Amino acid sequence: MRSRRSILLRGVLLGAIGLGLIARHDLRAQEGEAIVKRQCVTCHNISGPAPQDVAGVLRRKAPDLFYAGSKFQRAWLVKWLQQPTPIRQAGPMFLNHLVTRNGKDKINESSVKPCPSRLYPRQATAVSDFLMTLRNPAMKAGIIAPSKPFSDAKAFRLFSKQLPCNGCHTVNFKNRKLGGVSGPDLRSAGLRLNPDWVYARIQNPQYWDPRTWMPRIEMSREKRELLALFVSSQR
Ligand code: HEC
Ligand code: HEC
Repeated sequence: MRSRRSILLRGVLLGAIGLGLIARHDLRAQEGEAIVKRQCVTCHNISGPAPQDVAGVLRRKAPDLFYAGSKFQRAWLVKWLQQPTPIRQAGPMFLNHLVTRNGKDKINESSVKPCPSRLYPRQATAVSDFLMTLRNPAMKAGIIAPSKPFSDAKAFRLFSKQLPCNGCHTVNFKNRKLGGVSGPDLRSAGLRLNPDWVYARIQNPQYWDPRTWMPRIEMSREKRELLALFVSSQR
């Protein structure tokens, strides 16, 4: 039979290891914060608030990151920050890349610059740990269960016919790429975004970004949930 002392000792040891892990995690987040402050804040806002007027929106060089911990999935961040791929086909603000040729508006793709972040794996982990600490405590969690079954056809009909989502966002439907480019491409949203944040973003776009051109549309909870499930199934 184990003595009380050895059980106590084991508890102390496990506690110490636990504290050690927490300390290492904190240290990594601190290292990540230093990298972000050195390399990222010339373009990204990490302390809020979002631009309050149109001029600010036009000036914004890159998406806001001050609620990154509510918005993103950590695993996606770690991978993407090592090798960013384009998400906004028309840049963070499409008007800045609009050209008129033969009387038609077009996006000048050569003026759209991707995120230049090319971090080493260790740096990407540290930066992701830091970004995940930037949470909005008011956002409700546990609203969307991404594994919940839903009708893809019904969701796509809502997204593209009953509501105007498809005019600004590209999605995959039956292996076809469909939709507009003035908002972020949602084809990898299921890997990139926290499903609860997707729900909150659809519910009140202006809460997150007062001057966003994404409209706030009144709809039932069920419809909003269906849209969030659909967006979160895009991988
Ligand atoms: C020269 C400006 C610039 C710098 C510096 C920069 N970024 Fe970016 N970043 C962008 C732009 C522009 C985008 C939007 C890219 C897109 O949508 O394809 C972006 C997108 C992102 C995204 C995805 C945001 C979203 O909402 O989808 C993350 C995360 C990110 N950057 C992190 C970083 C980190 C971390 C650093 C520093 C290591 C960094 N960026 C440095 C311009 C920059
Ligand atoms: C008029 C254009 C427009 C319409 C219509 C629109 N959106 Fe958006 N949407 C945007 C813009 C702009 C953003 C944020 C831009 C950014 O982060 O750079 C956005 C962001 C989002 C995001 C977060 C994506 C991300 O990567 O940050 C989701 C999810 C989304 N919209 C879903 C929808 C749904 C669902 C609908 C329909 C109910 C809809 N949108 C209608 C323009 C639009």
